[in-house]
Amino acid sequence: MTDTVPQYLAGAHTAMSREEALAILDRLAEHLRNGTTDMAPEQLQVPISYYLDPEQWDREIREVFHRIPLPVCTSAELAGVGDYKALRVVGKEVILVRGKDGRMRAMLNVCRHRAMKLLPEGCGSTRHGFVCGYHAWSYDTAGRLTGVPEESTFGPVDRDDYSLVQLPCEERAGIVFIGLTAGMEFDVDAWLGPVLPCLEALELDKCTHFTTKELSGPNWKVTLDGYLESYHFGALHPGTVALTNHSNRATFDQFGPHVRNVFALKSLNAMLDTPRDQWDPAAAMGLVYWIFPGMSIAGGWRERTVISTMLPGDSWGESMTWQTTLLRTPPQTPEEYEEAAKTAEWFFAAFRDEDYTAQTDVQNGLASIPDQHMIIGRNEIAVQHAHETLRRLLAGESVHDVP
Ligand code: FES
Ligand SMILES: [Fe+2]
Repeated sequence: MTDTVPQYLAGAHTAMSREEALAILDRLAEHLRNGTTDMAPEQLQVPISYYLDPEQWDREIREVFHRIPLPVCTSAELAGVGDYKALRVVGKEVILVRGKDGRMRAMLNVCRHRAMKLLPEGCGSTRHGFVCGYHAWSYDTAGRLTGVPEESTFGPVDRDDYSLVQLPCEERAGIVFIGLTAGMEFDVDAWLGPVLPCLEALELDKCTHFTTKELSGPNWKVTLDGYLESYHFGALHPGTVALTNHSNRATFDQFGPHVRNVFALKSLNAMLDTPRDQWDPAAAMGLVYWIFPGMSIAGGWRERTVISTMLPGDSWGESMTWQTTLLRTPPQTPEEYEEAAKTAEWFFAAFRDEDYTAQTDVQNGLASIPDQHMIIGRNEIAVQHAHETLRRLLAGESVHDVP
């Protein structure tokens, strides 16, 4: 293990009960002994057109991304009153801002005068709100129109009618969820279902934001596939992820559309020679929750948690990822700061140079075999689950009653 490989802080946090964690370790131990992993009943064939077809992509955006609660960032990024983030989410300009009442709101980042983008993309903090750069209309942090310069010449403007367009927005378990359609049905608790207590146990809401780095990638489904299986660790990540993680030895649990993958860490082998009541789950399990359609939360017990939020970009061949590092304890010394920075850079570089590079090559390969299909293995069970969830959503079926 190099000094830049993320360290574990054993026992300091309770990402799940010890009994639950030991039950998962038992499953991983069986897989190590038998050379197995959790598996789907069958392989899955996916037509290449499913990835390439712009009409399919349009349907996904309209019928899925514009209709479900989307996890878009962590609460820790916008912890203080007046903290805001302007971001482009699946083709829409959005502002997230924590109001004076402490509530997070989402609104369209579009001035109601003549539709100027109100804020450039990025984060900041404001006491009073936002002023449009075109004709200086102003809005408070709740999105209410507060000022129209020279209104006596412009004519009267109703403050309520011309406030920023509000989007549904809720925080749960330290994650900010938004809906991209104003007035849409928005029940985050129902959408998360049984995964919500698992996410709450991670205590992301008590973490400190350290960094958020941005990474562009290929088609969102191509990118997503790489987040959901450990089959590729040894081949694609020999010098990074595979130093600490076994390839293809994992447990899979589904919570409606959402997933918990636990990857066997190499330290589990030695632990299996010790009495079970002395096992330390934090040191042997690579715990990753994945919230449909694109948030991966890695590092259940770790001092440093890395959260990747991946969403489609503006066209079928593009995606955007924000990779956020949260810390359990803010760095107290330059050395601690340096350590945290190394972890953040380590993860980012592995994703950029290994996963996203491979996935860009996948996308480049797709166009050469448009009439063929991909085959997704029984061991790639979470990949299968994600595509089955998408199929169900597009078919208007429930995704919360999957057996
Ligand atoms: S477009 Fe914003 S003030 Fe005119
Ligand atoms: Fe990977």
